Amino acid sequence: MKPDQLRSARWFGPDNLAGLNHRSRMKQAGLRSEDLSGKPIIAIINTWSEINPCHFHLRERAEFVKRGVWQAGGVPLEIPTLTVTETFMKPSPMLYRNLLAMQTEEALRSMPIDGAVLMGGCDKTTPGLLMGAFSVNIPAIYMPAGPMLRGNWKGEAIGSGTDVRKFWTERCAGTLSIEDWHAVEDGIARSPGFCMTMGTASTMTALTEALGMMLPGASSIPAADSAHPRMASAAGQRIVEMVWEDLKPSDILTLQSFENAITVDMAIGGSTNAIIHLVALAGRCGIPLALEDFDRISKRVPVLANIRPSGKYLMEDFYYAGGLLALMNEIRDLLHTDCRTVTGKTMGEALAGGRVIHDDVIRPRDKALSETGGTAILLGSLAPDGAVIKTSAAAPHLLKHTGPAVVFKNYMDLEARINSEDLNVTADSVLVLQNAGPLGGPGMPEWGMLPIPAKLLKQGVRDMLRISDARMSGTAYGACVLHVSPESYIGGPLALVQDGDLISLDAENRKLDLLVSAEELDERRKRWRRPARHFDRGYGALYLERVTQANKGCDFDFLEDIAGSVTEAPEIH
Ligand code: FES
Repeated sequence: MKPDQLRSARWFGPDNLAGLNHRSRMKQAGLRSEDLSGKPIIAIINTWSEINPCHFHLRERAEFVKRGVWQAGGVPLEIPTLTVTETFMKPSPMLYRNLLAMQTEEALRSMPIDGAVLMGGCDKTTPGLLMGAFSVNIPAIYMPAGPMLRGNWKGEAIGSGTDVRKFWTERCAGTLSIEDWHAVEDGIARSPGFCMTMGTASTMTALTEALGMMLPGASSIPAADSAHPRMASAAGQRIVEMVWEDLKPSDILTLQSFENAITVDMAIGGSTNAIIHLVALAGRCGIPLALEDFDRISKRVPVLANIRPSGKYLMEDFYYAGGLLALMNEIRDLLHTDCRTVTGKTMGEALAGGRVIHDDVIRPRDKALSETGGTAILLGSLAPDGAVIKTSAAAPHLLKHTGPAVVFKNYMDLEARINSEDLNVTADSVLVLQNAGPLGGPGMPEWGMLPIPAKLLKQGVRDMLRISDARMSGTAYGACVLHVSPESYIGGPLALVQDGDLISLDAENRKLDLLVSAEELDERRKRWRRPARHFDRGYGALYLERVTQANKGCDFDFLEDIAGSVTEAPEIH
């Protein structure tokens, strides 16, 4: 790439009215003529917001990114964008992942940007930012927010989501005092950064590194560690070099790099949400990825990361134990080491520095938590287009189970009846939640870890087979079958389940069946009526019109498979 070939040169280079207008307005912002002639313009897409505590440090980190950009001879421009905050957006932040993707894509496409540093980490921000950047296909590098420090409760290390749920279960069972409950509230989130269990945030940043879109080792650095701002500066420096090398996402992302991401997902016992996000990301690159690919790879990859909710430790421990590079080195033979990364080098070269320091946190292959991947893809009469279960986080005895359904028509119905003493439920029952999918939720909320009925909690029951078309937080656990496709809202078989129907799960053989005759289901289908629509206007209406099902990644159908189509700058006047 030569200076006059920079994308931004089309805005700032011409000696005409438009060129003068563009240059004068950047001078208004304090830039000089030499900043606007032949230097890469780097967008720092920042999801910082005071309503997103996971990203509370990103405003400061942007300054370190800028330092790296300036040092490398580029010009940084910070561009704030929608934050998708996992804790606060209702009914589900998943509803807004595609909006962040669109905003990222249009910001990069419409403005004089040569390369982008993407700053995020809280669950949906990583796929949202990447989906937009992949579609624009200009040089881009991901700068992860990093996990927060371990939580602390009375001297005990506690983890985001995972332990809160366990404490809540005990509170519901009457075995945890209000004082201890408040101590959890004070100690669970002690620093900036995202959830420090192997939830969706830690999973998606790890997979971004495995895809090659991040500096090697970056995903494991805790937000509060001084290595984090140093990594931010290095990302700023590297993106300028990437612009000169014209190293774009399409030069990095291949079917093999996505297989690397799936392999790592299995080895870390990653969040089930990663499946939806990886399918959507691959779709943006025109790379076909099917649920079967996850299952194929899952069968040959051991779970090595001993991190909650599947294991014992937290992300801070994972970093001290060697981090993702060390883990990837342990499964090096299962990876495509010739894939490129943002460094311009191969994944194999990136792994050269990885070394396990604590082998109970990152287990050797002969002491794996599980010999096969932590996630299984299910098919059968209840899920013709697939469903997902995180086997590594489920009680083993429930992975082969047949029981009678207890059906909840929607989340309100669940909330109203789950703790009723009259609920006809036993430990062998199968809890079913309908209308919680992409359209029915809407936004496929993380309702898939249905609560155990209070009367069973008191009997000591701590896990049950639960089935829904919802998602589940990556920090959650239990025998929860998720992402049932097609979803109940559009009349999938899940919509036809009634109380008492027998449901059979056989995770080892990947089967999920509704044991009701075809004739009876036909009768029920004739009587079935679609529930009311959730939105009639605005973004919500667009979402309902164009979102795809879970097995297709829940992207908008009009945004799939357009990588490379928007690299040319538009006509500039
Ligand atoms: Fe942001 Fe969990 S709330 S990652």
